[in-house]
Amino acid sequence: MAPLPETHHALVQRVYAEPLKVEDIPVPKPTAGSAVIKVEVANIISYMRDIYNGVRKYQYPTPLVPGTMCIGRVAALGSDATLLKEGQLAYVDCTIRGRDDPGAIILSGIAEGGTEGSKALMHGEWRDSSYAEYMKAPLENCHPVDEAKFCSPVSEGGLGYNIGQLAWLGIPLVPYGGLKSINLQAGETVVIAPATGGFGGGAVLIALAMGARVIAMGRNADALAKLKKFDSRVETVQMVGDVEKEVAALKKFGRIDAFLDISPSQAQDSTHFKSCILSLRPEGRVSLMGGILGDLPLPHRFIMRFNITLKGKWMYYREDIPALIKLIEHGNLKLDHVKLIGTYPLEEWKEAFDVAADKTGLGEIVLLKPQY
Ligand SMILES: NC(=O)c1ccc[n+]([C@@H]2O[C@H](COP(=O)([O-])OP(=O)(O)OC[C@H]3O[C@@H](n4cnc5c(N)ncnc54)[C@H](OP(=O)(O)O)[C@@H]3O)[C@@H](O)[C@H]2O)c1
Repeated sequence: MAPLPETHHALVQRVYAEPLKVEDIPVPKPTAGSAVIKVEVANIISYMRDIYNGVRKYQYPTPLVPGTMCIGRVAALGSDATLLKEGQLAYVDCTIRGRDDPGAIILSGIAEGGTEGSKALMHGEWRDSSYAEYMKAPLENCHPVDEAKFCSPVSEGGLGYNIGQLAWLGIPLVPYGGLKSINLQAGETVVIAPATGGFGGGAVLIALAMGARVIAMGRNADALAKLKKFDSRVETVQMVGDVEKEVAALKKFGRIDAFLDISPSQAQDSTHFKSCILSLRPEGRVSLMGGILGDLPLPHRFIMRFNITLKGKWMYYREDIPALIKLIEHGNLKLDHVKLIGTYPLEEWKEAFDVAADKTGLGEIVLLKPQY
């Protein structure tokens, strides 16, 4: 790789909730325990706009280089790197944990977490994220991707994916964390609700890749029909705002082992929480991953009588990432359906955030590409 330049272009937010601006700032230096990554493409999550305009009230310090998971190339390495090589393609995870306290968790560029330790991480060493030409990341957050295997044409023995499609792996990775945390097994039946959004669609696909049968639940009948077409192991149930009707529709599919919720905050009063829990078999498991801000009324008696497990999950564990990369490498999880809706330069962040907020269907992805 060429030596690092002195400065680079980065999106910067100087004041909380104020518009972002492209600035020329110093390129981070590699220090022990870190890699400097040349960002190829960085994901835009559907609700990025509402994070940086303050609507979601996420806590993070300013000035900040925003961002999230990305695909990049290792540009420079700290002296203690043992596996990564300069020039190598890597998936760079946004979940940063305290090395001396894995319970101190931040989402790079997004959220400073809820402990003194996590705040120290975000206000100090790991302040800046991936909406920039270069970023510094902990070594353990950089997961090598076998570029020859993933990106060579199928005719040459590769998988034929492009780098943009690879960036989508950060989407199913989130529900993979939740589904693993409730020990979803091949052959089991899991309800995913809502299944028609970005992470919900990713959840359907990763649950199938894990060998499960999926009941996809959502409000939008057309979006559910698209999911149904995707695989014969997908069944669908529409959310109709009536617990009794929803339970009856779910129970038509027989024994249900697990339920993953990945709701946005707007679904706070949705009936599906109760319907899905009441449809579970005894000893059924629930993964709560949604961004619900208030409290939920729960069917306590049912949960108690039938030994239901409720498990909260923020993101996933580090070891889930190479495991998911293997699922793609071995063809269990295919990326052919991943559709790049748009790839935008940093300057067009506003349009990119708007498009990402609108386009969140199955496998749809919007990216920022800092280097043009
Ligand atoms: N735990 C974690 O680690 C983690 C990580 C990432 C994200 N999340 C959470 O996941 C949530 C979903 O993100 P996303 O990017 O997938 O959002 P998205 O693409 O906007 O999808 C939102 C989904 O929710 C449905 N929905 C919206 N309002 C609803 C309502 N009132 N009742 C029922 N369903 C409703 C939408 O269906 P319609 O088509 O019917 O509107 C759609 O299926 C986020 O809000 C975030 O907080 C959690």
